[in-house]
Amino acid sequence: MPAARSRPRSPSQPAPRPDWTHWVRLAASAIHGRGVIARRLIPRGARVIEYIGERIGKMESRRREERRRARLARGGDGAVYIFDISRRYDVDGTTRRNVARWINHSCAPNCAVDVVRGRIWIVARREILAGEELSYDYGFPLWEWPDHPCRCGSAGCPGYIVESAQRWRLRRAANRARLQRATSEWGRVARGRPLLDRARSFFPPPPDLRLKILNFQFSI
Ligand SMILES: C[S@@+](CC[C@H](N)C(=O)[O-])C[C@H]1O[C@@H](n2cnc3c(N)ncnc32)[C@H](O)[C@@H]1O
Ligand SMILES: [Zn+2]
Repeated sequence: MPAARSRPRSPSQPAPRPDWTHWVRLAASAIHGRGVIARRLIPRGARVIEYIGERIGKMESRRREERRRARLARGGDGAVYIFDISRRYDVDGTTRRNVARWINHSCAPNCAVDVVRGRIWIVARREILAGEELSYDYGFPLWEWPDHPCRCGSAGCPGYIVESAQRWRLRRAANRARLQRATSEWGRVARGRPLLDRARSFFPPPPDLRLKILNFQFSI
């Protein structure tokens, strides 16, 4: 049968969307393992790539998550490819065809996820330069934080992958832990001095003031 001849596009018809190979390629990542890198400048709002996979119900999703955790506990691959799309369904992107599964998380991502009628699109949140790595926010729940250390390197990164609305809690906990460490070191020297103890419960003094207080302690 002769191949159908393509008809010229009328000016009112929208231009076909370029497929992902136009925008990105798979390469080594600066964040983790492999990642997805821009081949060219990607304009803000461009639908770059679709996250494809098998649509599964929540029960099946939980079963697969348990299997993933067991694999991880045995030292195997613990990468998460299951994508939450609605209250009833998830998409398991563990298929070779799904190149979007290589996109890493960042706490300051350059892409967003747009779920349209059950299909998952990765969309540029801003202009992305050629050579930049694509990232989006995985949005993992807070209670899973110890399982997902983050190496995105962005300024506000709390060190773990958790949904953006909860990151302040981790930052606050980290600050408290730092504060506790600093004050307990100081406390060892200042032990038995109620006045200093009271001051310690607020904020550790800056280092030069700390020195002055110690000198004062030794002089009395
Ligand atoms: C869907 S895979 C992404 C592809 C991954 N880079 C690879 O080579 O397999 C998701 C896994 O990548 C890792 N990952 C993604 N973003 C990360 C980040 N910001 N910091 C540390 N690991 C990350 C985690 O192990 C996560 O479970
Ligand atoms: Zn991060």
